[in-house]
Formats: sequence, structure tokens, C-alpha cells
Amino acid sequence: MSIIALYSSKGGVGKTASAVNLSYYAARAGNRTLLIDLDQQGASGYYFRIRSSGKSDARAVMKGKSGALEAIRETDYPGLHLLPAHRAYRNFDAVLDGMKRSKSRLADFVSEVSGDYDQVVLDCPPTLSHVAENIFKAADVVLIPVIPTTLSLRTYEQLKVFFDQKDYKKKKLRPFFSMVEKRKRLHQDSVETLRASEKRLLKTMIPYCAQVEAMGVHREPVLAYAPRHAASMAFRNLWKEVTEE
Ligand SMILES: Nc1ncnc2c1ncn2[C@@H]1O[C@H](COP(=O)(O)OP(=O)(O)O)[C@@H](O)[C@H]1O
Ligand SMILES: [Mg+2]
Repeated sequence: MSIIALYSSKGGVGKTASAVNLSYYAARAGNRTLLIDLDQQGASGYYFRIRSSGKSDARAVMKGKSGALEAIRETDYPGLHLLPAHRAYRNFDAVLDGMKRSKSRLADFVSEVSGDYDQVVLDCPPTLSHVAENIFKAADVVLIPVIPTTLSLRTYEQLKVFFDQKDYKKKKLRPFFSMVEKRKRLHQDSVETLRASEKRLLKTMIPYCAQVEAMGVHREPVLAYAPRHAASMAFRNLWKEVTEE
């Protein structure tokens, strides 16, 4: 089983859009896939038309309850399951703070389901806290969507510093460009800058396009309603690049 996290400490960079499409494509490619929605806003669940039951959900994962297993739902797509988020995530970090093994809760849960799934995808909240440390510990690969702007590049640099401080393995970190507008000079320059300096940068770039934004209307992955669109092709390529290396 492999565990891919979509992570950035910045919001609105394309974590959820990528998590939804990559998990959809993983399942299409024949992998038994579980998408875990760790963001209290529950956007992944929204795109797959699944709501938390409110009782047991991804929050239970962190609390170490086996009830989380019961909260896993089937989506409309064969082979793709989802563990929905919960609105009460707000105090998550406070809850984790007082716990034993608080940095391995997620890893423990994922190893519990390792027999049932080939692929786990984590849709992460924009935080650099206990939850993030759980994510870094559990994930085999941490995919980081980076909008090609100076600020986003800085966010990535800060994450590398954090990994150094904690002595985490930086080779897990794989940035990729998201919401790219090739006509913008700033975007071109930022792409060149990171390409020149970052060997872990993935080649695939996700273009900025209205078809991806329309996921909120369709409530489906763009790969499901516009499979031949440039953005869909990019998500497919991203999956291949990450898994076939
Ligand atoms: N490639 C893209 N092109 C256009 N809009 C996008 C793209 N990726 C994401 N969006 C839109 O940008 C917003 C933030 O994306 P989202 O995936 O929710 O980010 P995050 O999970 O990092 O907060 C959403 O409204 C989404 O529809
Ligand atoms: Mg999100």
C-alpha cells in the first residue's frame, strides 16, 4: 500500500482538486483506494457528494478509535472509498496535544487498513501543526501544489526548513506547479526559478482552467466529466509521474 498526501500550509492552492482527481484516477487504474478528508471544511466529501454521519469520521482516526473504520463510505465510483471530514476539527490540535503517540495516530490508522487498500490519498488542511506532523509521518510521498508566485515558493522553502528542524526525510517532499497561467510573466519566472533549483520538483504542471473550478457545480472530479480536457490530462500525468518513478 502506498500513501500519498496532498499538503501545503497555504490554502487555495489545489490540494483538494488534486486529491479528488488523483484518488479517482487511482481507483480507475484498478487500485483499491481510500481518500481521507482531513480538512474540517470537508471539500473532498462535497465533491463526492458524501457527508459525514457526524458520529464517527476522520476525527476518530486521530483519537485512535476503530470506529473510524465504520465511517468509511463508498463513493459513486468503483474501488474508491472516502473517509469524510468533520466540522468539529477545529480543536483537533488541542485534542492531539494531550495524547500519547500523538504524532503517529494517522500512521497507526493507515496501517490498520493496509490490507484493504492499495492506495491511500490524504487531503490535508493548511496547517503546520500536530496534524501536519501526523501527515508527514504517515505519508510515503507528500505532494505539494505550488502556485507559481513568489509567496508560494516561499511557503515551500519554509516547509523544507521545518523538515530540517524536525529531521524528517526531505526526499518525501515532491512539489508540483498548480493553477499555472503560462501567459503570466510572474508564473513563467517562478517556474524557471524553481526548476533551476529544486531537483524534487515534478515535471507535470496543472494548468489554471475553468473546467477545474466547475467541479463545484458538477460535484465530480474533472477527470469524470471532461476526461480529455488539458487539466484532466495533467492530473493523469501527475499520477503516472508519481507512481511510475
Ligand atoms: N487548476 C485549477 N484551475 C482553476 N481553478 C482551480 C484549479 N485548482 C483548484 N481550483 C479552484 O481553486 C479553489 C481552491 O482549490 P482547492 O483545491 O480547494 O485548494 P486547497 O484544497 O489547497 O485549499 C477552488 O475553488 C478550486 O475549484
Ligand atoms: Mg482543500
